[in-house]
Amino acid sequence: MQQELGALLALMPDEQRVRVAGRDFWVGHLHGQPVVAVLSRIGKVAAAVTATVLLERFGVRAIVFTGVAGGLAPGVNVGDVVVATELLQHDMDASPIFPKHEVPLMGLSRFAADAAISDALAQVVTNVLRDPVALIGQEGVDEFGLSSPRVHRGLLVSGDRFVSTTAESAALQRELPDALAVEMEGAAVAQVCHDYGVPFAAMRTISDRADDAAHGDFARFVAVVASRYSLALVGAWLATLPALS
Ligand code: ADE
Repeated sequence: MQQELGALLALMPDEQRVRVAGRDFWVGHLHGQPVVAVLSRIGKVAAAVTATVLLERFGVRAIVFTGVAGGLAPGVNVGDVVVATELLQHDMDASPIFPKHEVPLMGLSRFAADAAISDALAQVVTNVLRDPVALIGQEGVDEFGLSSPRVHRGLLVSGDRFVSTTAESAALQRELPDALAVEMEGAAVAQVCHDYGVPFAAMRTISDRADDAAHGDFARFVAVVASRYSLALVGAWLATLPALS
């Protein structure tokens, strides 16, 4: 999201803007690590293009996706964080020619996230979420009722739909009982990274329960909660990496 990117850019001392395919890629350093920061844009195709440019033009060695998602499984609540272990496109359906959710000609419906990066992210999330007040202030905790946010690991599902009815959320849960959360890009980026053999990981802050109340004050949640989570989590994760130039 724009607010997340803005928070990261404020910490990049040397960012240079490179414009490709109508997107601004910010090349520089963050916590001493060489990075390219970019908005994925919204939806699977847009995110797949962004990922492809990161890989082809910038030669990135890994892609880490941050953002927000709607909680699906019981107990995946607003303010929690989901670190994906695998990702699936819930709206992929070429049945009966291919099994539902399978990406045609790939023989795959679920794309695994990189285990080493995901383990490191989950560790960092666990540490950072111990003190939500330090992260977003007492007002933020009170406004969104985030007294004890948790980290969850498992299936993240993506599709070109903002899920904003309880009926659709229930249908997704029936169809994919192990899905923790839903968003609109992750599985597409995971597929691109799979094609290129480049490690991929995703962590998403839960902004809503993908139900009739999901429209909520989305922009405010991103500004007050998700962008601060992203900043802290990306920073803490980068700090765990060996120095690169
Ligand atoms: N991103 C955040 N919340 C979402 C939802 N309910 N559906 C799809 N993408 C989302």
